[in-house]
Amino acid sequence: MSRSTDAQSPRFRVRPPTNWMNDPNGPFRWGGRYHLFYQHNPDAPVHANIHWGHASSPDLAHWDDHGIALRPIPGGPDEAGCWSGCVVDDGGVPTAVYSGIDHDHQGLSTICLAVAEDDGLEEWKQLPVPVVAGPPPGMDVTMFRDPFVFRFAGRRWALVGAGHADGTPSVLVYDCEDLYAWRFAGVLLDGRDPAAARAFGTRAIGWECPQMWETARGDWVLAVALWDGDPLNTAYLTGHLLEEGDGALRFGVGTGGPLDLGRDFYAPSVLQDMESGRALLWGWSWESRPREGVDRAGWSGVLTAPRVVDTHEDGTLRVVPAAELELLRAAVPFTATPGPHWPLPLSYDLLVTARSAATLSLLRAASGGELTVRLDPGSGTVTLNRTAWPRSRPDGTAPLVLPTPRGETVTVRILVDGSLLELFAGDRAMATERVYRRDDDVPELAVSGRDVEVTGWALVPPSPA
Ligand code: FRU
Repeated sequence: MSRSTDAQSPRFRVRPPTNWMNDPNGPFRWGGRYHLFYQHNPDAPVHANIHWGHASSPDLAHWDDHGIALRPIPGGPDEAGCWSGCVVDDGGVPTAVYSGIDHDHQGLSTICLAVAEDDGLEEWKQLPVPVVAGPPPGMDVTMFRDPFVFRFAGRRWALVGAGHADGTPSVLVYDCEDLYAWRFAGVLLDGRDPAAARAFGTRAIGWECPQMWETARGDWVLAVALWDGDPLNTAYLTGHLLEEGDGALRFGVGTGGPLDLGRDFYAPSVLQDMESGRALLWGWSWESRPREGVDRAGWSGVLTAPRVVDTHEDGTLRVVPAAELELLRAAVPFTATPGPHWPLPLSYDLLVTARSAATLSLLRAASGGELTVRLDPGSGTVTLNRTAWPRSRPDGTAPLVLPTPRGETVTVRILVDGSLLELFAGDRAMATERVYRRDDDVPELAVSGRDVEVTGWALVPPSPA
């Protein structure tokens, strides 16, 4: 596979060989492999003419790209784009359920199906007639897209992201036990719910890409991408599902908050993986460098590493990188001690445990500014400071603070792959950020602190089988 590469290119995460990608779509296990699709423009590094790209992996660590899975069909309900959706096993037939966009669309999609024609999920037949022609009548829906199918109480249901004319965002729900005959089953949750407003804020006018998974404890987590005309960020709510007498499904809200605390993470997709008994989540990390840099590079967007998501007893998010990512570690680790500077490769995995306040410097700018992660068990915080690396997005460079429980130790995991930085504070919080190394930056690890252990691994390509 030829792949556009520059110093900023992630080499181990899922992305197309070149040009544009956004949301992950339809993570799915089939034929002994993990399949992951993604929003993709094969012609330019801009969001237009959206296809579904396709990658697969035997182990969640090593991915092969398979090119285009779904494409806009002239005159079809998806003539202007195959937007986000999911993939389900419909009685042995892998079926993509996605948003079809036509040339006149104003944010309203139809819900379309495509059936796989081979076991590798490379060939798909896109059905010419949508299963849902548009939002339910009489609800003033102005945004309608991103079906997500799941099972609850022995039936199959689908969430759809929505926004209403008065600016209220919502998640609509359908009964789609028969994937070819959908029944509207109400508003699962909307932005007027006080707990939703607390967890999701009140800025969004649409909730995109709703996702749900059942936790090990039997709670349900709803994750949404918050949209105010532009993508904002992501949030989650833990609660329970309630089937009501009138055939409606509602979400009884518990606790929640931001899903990923970084500034470069959006529209995650979840795989409730029955085989391994866990929920896996990938997000889209967009570019935060100027347009000219993207055009020069010829590619835009990457997916995060897979994360295992669950909840703690109090309903708050529990998140760790999937264990399989350790397959990418070089055989011999390096351990860094306070004092000297250690050269860092372009892609690495760091594990840090601090028993008192400690700081790691990961990159030094010619100006003297440093990219640092500070661990402070006393205040229960992990702080990422990337002030010396400008962003093209209007959300500033201020340090990010990730909360962890106060205590004896703080552990962090840092995954860096080219310009993609993923930070995990224990199993409590995650942040995805893009940091574009400049030619005169010095990629060296320096550790300061009295009681801190650092183990690192360069990431290495798979060895030939
Ligand atoms: C989220 C999103 C989805 C839509 C897709 C289009 O980033 O806007 O709502 O289906 O991207 O590419």
